[in-house]
Amino acid sequence: IRLLSVTAEMFPFVKTGGLGDVTGSLPVALAPYGVMVTTLLPGYPAVMAAARERRVVAHVDSLLGHAATLWSATVDGLDLLILDVPALFDRPGNPYMCPDGQDWPDNGIRFAVLSRMGADIAQGRIDQYRPDIVQAHDWQSGLVAAYLYHDGIALGTPRPPVVQTIHNLAFQGRFPASCLAEFGLPPEAFSVEGCECYGAISFLKAGLYYADRITTVSPSYAQEIQTPEGGMGLDGLLRHRSDRLEGILNGINTDTWNPASDPAVHFPYVVGDMIGRAPNKRDLQAEFGLWADPNAFVIGIVSRLTAQKGIDLLADVMPRLLAGNTQIIVVGEGDRDIERGLAALHRQYSGRFACHIGYSEVLGHRVPAGVDALLIPSRFEPCGLTQLGALHYGAVPIASRVGGLADTIVDANPAALARGGATGFLFTSVDGETLVAGVARARTLYRRNRPAWRQLQLNGAGYDVSWNDKAAHYVMLFAEVLGMDMSSPA
Ligand code: ADP
Ligand code: GLC
Repeated sequence: IRLLSVTAEMFPFVKTGGLGDVTGSLPVALAPYGVMVTTLLPGYPAVMAAARERRVVAHVDSLLGHAATLWSATVDGLDLLILDVPALFDRPGNPYMCPDGQDWPDNGIRFAVLSRMGADIAQGRIDQYRPDIVQAHDWQSGLVAAYLYHDGIALGTPRPPVVQTIHNLAFQGRFPASCLAEFGLPPEAFSVEGCECYGAISFLKAGLYYADRITTVSPSYAQEIQTPEGGMGLDGLLRHRSDRLEGILNGINTDTWNPASDPAVHFPYVVGDMIGRAPNKRDLQAEFGLWADPNAFVIGIVSRLTAQKGIDLLADVMPRLLAGNTQIIVVGEGDRDIERGLAALHRQYSGRFACHIGYSEVLGHRVPAGVDALLIPSRFEPCGLTQLGALHYGAVPIASRVGGLADTIVDANPAALARGGATGFLFTSVDGETLVAGVARARTLYRRNRPAWRQLQLNGAGYDVSWNDKAAHYVMLFAEVLGMDMSSPA
């Protein structure tokens, strides 16, 4: 199976969150199953720099009015098609925002162009490469399915199946109706049965409407988004298409997430070795200027700093979180207000609270290798990847019971503890009180029953965070969409 993955982010080239991790690691996991992934990615400066050795595949004079060059390259074993449109992608800052944190005003056309190129490739307009199936990730690729549908009607062009994957329903890519022609969509596309959504054009809604299949990144999130509370205005459509919707959990690459060989981990240890982790805690306390106390209960947070992640709740309850000789480390960036609030806490509670404001891949790995627990108070969480790294590295997750967190963490209630299956702590409904209570419950077990705590860590280390089963699940889905018979040997 040749799969074209269309995405705005891909690790290790460009990443703002888990989307990049997934688009960067899923191709590696699918390859053993004979699913060959080629990824279409915008030619941001970081991508062009990483793909120095590249070949021209095509020059396009006008892709929705923009001159484009399509390059192909293989970097770190990943097959890329790079959409080089300097006027749209050769910019500083992250994929969506200028350096001052504002969205680029032309994000609509930037990702319409990406989707348009994805559709062209899918239609076989590029020499030498023609995919069997397309996976479109998030709103940035949402128009791929729309273009394929409308071209198919108007021109009879081929229309390979599209799987639209939702990593986060909160970002929908909404743009004014007046952009329709600029985006190269026919007037009839602006309809409830099409790209229209509450009076605007919505890229994600278009993808959800036109795609052959919809996936999201956990079974619980697949349910939550069909409810008014979790559906962000699209629950009606998702309920309507529920027979085409399923949740497949994310995995992580256990070659890079291996504490025995992870260059970020100063004192390497094998998964499940809890004694071997200990020096990493001391090391982390020193690095963050926390009191060097082996008995402190050290909690880490590695997160985008946004309302989704619940980090805004910390400030009000900080004294109660830090009770009982607790220390907290935050690594993150995002909302400027939250960043300022954390910096103030750092000054106020120095020695017990520390933060690193910024993006640091190294700290993203070093923190779970050293802390006792990782706190994830998300208001919603499609899958979440940090809890997977934490489980694997022996840090016990304390998380809200939503989405993928609920699906990947087993709460340490008395029954689960007795059965020996618990891996962390889940709390319901996210507010300051439940957050404090969740942390207190974890701290109490840590202080009063260290063998039970060790068992939690071991259970977590034994949980399969890899892509193995999840990649197999995607393969079944792709094969089914393509009408392949999986019962016969390949
Ligand atoms: P989301 O995609 O919503 O941000 P995920 O948990 O799925 O949440 O993925 C986030 C990824 O980004 C994880 O790999 C996490 O370790 C990483 N990450 C987030 N913020 C930072 C940061 N400031 N520094 C390093 N890594 C970060
Ligand atoms: C999104 C979600 C996160 C998920 C990631 C990768 O950014 O917020 O929960 O893990 O995508 O699918």
